[in-house]
Amino acid sequence: MCGIVGYVGHRPALDVVVGGLRRLEYRGYDSAGVALLDGQGGLSVERKAGPLANLEAKLAQVDAGRLTGTAGMGHTRWATHGAPTDRNAHPHRSTAGDVAVVHNGIIENHLPLRAELEAAGIELTSDTDTETAAHLVALAYAGADGGAATKGDLVASVRAVAGRLEGAFTLLVTHAAEPDMIVAARRSSPLVLGLGEGETFLASDVAAFIEFTRDAVELGQDQVVTITREGYTVTDFAGEPVGAAPFRVTWDLAAAEKGGHDYFMLKEIEEQPTAIADTLRGHFIDHKIVLDEQRLSDQELRDIDKVFVVACGTAYHSGLLAKYAIEHWTRLPVEVDLASEFRYRDPVLDRSTLVVAISQSGETADTLEALRHAKDQKARVLAICNTNGAQIPRESDAVLYTHAGPEIGVAATKTFTSQIAANYLVGLALAQARGTKYPDEVAREFRELEAMPAAVAATLQNLDAARALGRELAGSKAVLFLGRHVGYPVALEGALKLKELAYMHAEAFAAGELKHGPIALIEEGLPVIVVMPSPKGRAVLHAKLLSNIQEIQARGAHTVVIAEEGDETVRPFAEHLFEVPAVPTLLQPLVSTIPLQVIAAEIARARGFDVDKPRNLAKSVTVE
Ligand code: G6P
Repeated sequence: MCGIVGYVGHRPALDVVVGGLRRLEYRGYDSAGVALLDGQGGLSVERKAGPLANLEAKLAQVDAGRLTGTAGMGHTRWATHGAPTDRNAHPHRSTAGDVAVVHNGIIENHLPLRAELEAAGIELTSDTDTETAAHLVALAYAGADGGAATKGDLVASVRAVAGRLEGAFTLLVTHAAEPDMIVAARRSSPLVLGLGEGETFLASDVAAFIEFTRDAVELGQDQVVTITREGYTVTDFAGEPVGAAPFRVTWDLAAAEKGGHDYFMLKEIEEQPTAIADTLRGHFIDHKIVLDEQRLSDQELRDIDKVFVVACGTAYHSGLLAKYAIEHWTRLPVEVDLASEFRYRDPVLDRSTLVVAISQSGETADTLEALRHAKDQKARVLAICNTNGAQIPRESDAVLYTHAGPEIGVAATKTFTSQIAANYLVGLALAQARGTKYPDEVAREFRELEAMPAAVAATLQNLDAARALGRELAGSKAVLFLGRHVGYPVALEGALKLKELAYMHAEAFAAGELKHGPIALIEEGLPVIVVMPSPKGRAVLHAKLLSNIQEIQARGAHTVVIAEEGDETVRPFAEHLFEVPAVPTLLQPLVSTIPLQVIAAEIARARGFDVDKPRNLAKSVTVE
């Protein structure tokens, strides 16, 4: 959460920074701001509460002559400390206005630091934790804090201040007296560097600078990086130089644009066949499932006797599906935990436990801390992640990347289905290592997975009725979702999409639980969306769900059913029937989830909400 961009180069920095913020708005949109160095000792700051568009409107009224220069930085905020107002918007400045700071994360010891600054007579003008860093850097640079070694040295000043901060942070710092550099400090929050010809970028995510360069550099934790037009230097907080690994970004600007759709999310829904295919590609070589990175020996994999899956939000729902596949294929017991709960319940972990951390961003604080807890207890950790080089994969013993490309819509769609595919690859890799499946069985399961992009593409061809239903349901107060077996996590995800996008009360239940309480909710006209199991693959459950539909219909529910093509038995009880291709049971979520995504997006649109940027949410939540 919070997006950061920094630029030192030869282009007008304002354009580069605002363009970068536009692509980072998915990280937060409570306020936005820029700081520009004009090269002649001037440092201008403009900031505004609300989405980036508010800042742009303000910038259009500012004297353009003030906002020149080819170095600058910007911030789009997801508020943690302090309300989303103009005065709390970043950049924050020192009292004299010569230091500007943007920040992503939380400075946990900001209260004692604030007290220290106030005792020194400094008046703080915002409610944020960030502002303390601006004053501390200014004091260090001036040598006013007794730090002779930091006087007149911005890099040393940032290093000294970073060493005093607790919590998670990426800070970008500029000083009016140092017009050709930006200094950044990083601990447990994302930061990536972009390298161009005579220009260097810093950002929370490569999307911010992909228009200009695909050459990026991964930065580690507790590092200070300085960018200039010529390049960069990286040290640890003690000032020791450290190496940084360059990499080439494999997607381009077109992938981050809307591609003719009104919203990124709609484009991302359409991209699911490609995202799943790209996630599978290259992972079955010489008749064996291979992961992207594996720092675990085959013996260590064979020794695994228990699996935990930890994740948040949509990734958690994909994790619930992983349980069905991994238990079925490997006979290993699997527990699925909300990452935020995991370490606080003191789970039983040891070196033969595998913890699978699933995260689109690879930087979700809850998931990262769950992973760290697992590692402290000597468990093995495998990451499923969509972001190359993010913190979660970096700290894991093995990694499988979902190759879904950039997902800009805050509500996850293509990364969900890609995670399901990746989870199943992990299940097959474990089955292969443990010998619970013969190689030809692993190959057959993989081929079935490989057929899924075509099945998803076929589902996408047939969604007009789902869109029409979305418009019809826009006036409903609540929607219930029912599913069983792998249809249950799909129902949970369908309800989450509706909450996130349409701000509608949506609940999902395992259909067998209906009679134990939730059936009391059924009343005349209440829409209930039912994810039917296959009548062939899960005949027993199909029959039970068929009874459930009749029970709720008898009580006045408005029944909407997602069912396998040719499932005629359900037709008489479905006021709306959406057919999805017949696929193997474990793979049905990859198709049945698609109409639910579309219905939620359409309800949100009909209600006049921004589908890409739901209120109060951020795509990447880097605080616990
Ligand atoms: C946030 C997002 C959700 C996402 C969850 C986990 O809450 O709004 O859409 O599912 O984080 O994110 P991750 O990056 O770890 O998959």
